[in-house]
Amino acid sequence: MKISIISGSHRKVSQSEKVARFVQRTLEDKGLCDETWLFRLAQNPLPLWDESIWESNPEWQARLQPIGEQLASSDGLVVVSPEWHGQVPAGLKNFFLMWGRGELAHKPALIVTVSSADGGAYPVAELRMSSYKNNRICYIPEHVIVRHVESVLNDNEVDNNPVADQYFRGRFAYALGILREYALAMRQVRASGATDLSVFKNGM
Ligand SMILES: Cc1cc2nc3c(=O)[nH]c(=O)nc-3n(C[C@H](O)[C@H](O)[C@H](O)COP(=O)(O)O)c2cc1C
Repeated sequence: MKISIISGSHRKVSQSEKVARFVQRTLEDKGLCDETWLFRLAQNPLPLWDESIWESNPEWQARLQPIGEQLASSDGLVVVSPEWHGQVPAGLKNFFLMWGRGELAHKPALIVTVSSADGGAYPVAELRMSSYKNNRICYIPEHVIVRHVESVLNDNEVDNNPVADQYFRGRFAYALGILREYALAMRQVRASGATDLSVFKNGM
């Protein structure tokens, strides 16, 4: 059982990455999976999509193949997105354009959004509406919105609001436990043959 975590902030140092690393530690410490992989979009490691991807451009292949292999061998995902201008960062939307070969298809994913204030609802709605059609990632109904992120999930306890911090640690344990069960159950969906992508390559 392998769960991959995507940290969707382009910033070199970001709160989304802090949360992503907390998610990774929680998955490992609680034994919720055997393997984790964390991919950071910090400093835009993926250029904007262009159509030479479809022409097997060797530069794109070299860039995408190692990431695609990690995603393809994952059973589930956690997508961490900050709220920027009420949106998902452009680099994270760009990331979702890259995976049309079933790397994410019919795999459960937990949405986690991050805000320094009271935001975080818009990127949940945006991801649920428009990031899954062709890659066919399956967002589970549970999600976590980490509000006032600077005051929770810090390694140094004195930086944490104790009530909010306890709440989010409990909430993450709960949500990740659910993700694990979906990841186990959905192996069967992929193995059934019913999800054959050669029949209808793209979602409708
Ligand atoms: C370009 C930009 C736009 C932002 N817009 C919003 C916003 O619309 N709503 C919000 O709650 N926070 C907004 N923030 C603050 C983020 O919530 C804050 O930076 C938080 O730490 C998550 O982003 P990070 O993962 O990049 O650190 C914005 C931050 C940046 C850099």
